[in-house]
Amino acid sequence: LNYTPHSSAKRLPSLTIRASAAAFPSPSDGASQAKSPEQFRVEILSESLPYIQRFRGKTIVVKYGGAAMKDPKLQASVVSDLVLLSCVGLRPVLVHGGGPEINRWLKQLNIEPLFHDGLRVTDAETMEIVSMVLVGKSYNINADTVAGELAAALGAEKLILLTDVAGILEYRDDPNSLVKETDIAGVKKLIAEKKVAGGMIPKVNCCVRAIEQGVSTASIIDGRVQHSLLHEIMSEDGLGTMITA
Ligand code: ADP
Ligand code: ARG
Repeated sequence: LNYTPHSSAKRLPSLTIRASAAAFPSPSDGASQAKSPEQFRVEILSESLPYIQRFRGKTIVVKYGGAAMKDPKLQASVVSDLVLLSCVGLRPVLVHGGGPEINRWLKQLNIEPLFHDGLRVTDAETMEIVSMVLVGKSYNINADTVAGELAAALGAEKLILLTDVAGILEYRDDPNSLVKETDIAGVKKLIAEKKVAGGMIPKVNCCVRAIEQGVSTASIIDGRVQHSLLHEIMSEDGLGTMITA
């Protein structure tokens, strides 16, 4: 397990992650190194060049997680990130979930949502709500699974899952324990040790399956942070957890 605590992120202190990570650092994040949002933007932009060159023409499958897609402002920023990536030559493919919206409707109809190891158990009654919410989508497949298999089938370079946590946390209640980079053996160990639990299990498993089928890297990143997609793809340190073979 290649575990790099966030505090060791050296080149861009502004990319370190906190529980309530904001897109831009505040002066209190380190007075001597505080950057204005403008400086920060310019740095990200100039740091982007090698990544644009490396990933131009490559397919990047992005799963936008149910829990992370509640805020309309963030939704707009994810879409604008995808447009930007496409304009600079990458080939983004978006897979979206619908968990919170499905749960909201289930609640209104007094049906208890049921999950087993992080995956929804879709009985006949729940299925009606699922098809009502997602319109038509007659067999409910977990969107992480869809994104992973799609990435593999398309020969994608990357799979990126946007969710509502900073990435894989070695200690799930400690936002400072972000695993910045690891490999298949590392995540399997985290699952065996039960450090990865609940909804993170299918997410990690589909990353592993995608990588085993030839996708180069799979990242789990924080969809609550504006432009997290650009941070992950276009910077050296990235933002969340990147899993490699
Ligand atoms: P989404 O709706 O984005 O698909 P889920 O809610 O299914 O996401 O899964 C993400 C959740 O997994 C996190 O919000 C967190 O509560 C849980 N989780 C369990 N173990 C971990 C871990 N080790 N690191 C981070 N999150 C974890
Ligand atoms: N931008 C680079 C890439 O997409 C590096 C990302 C590193 N990310 C991480 N979470 N450690 O390949």
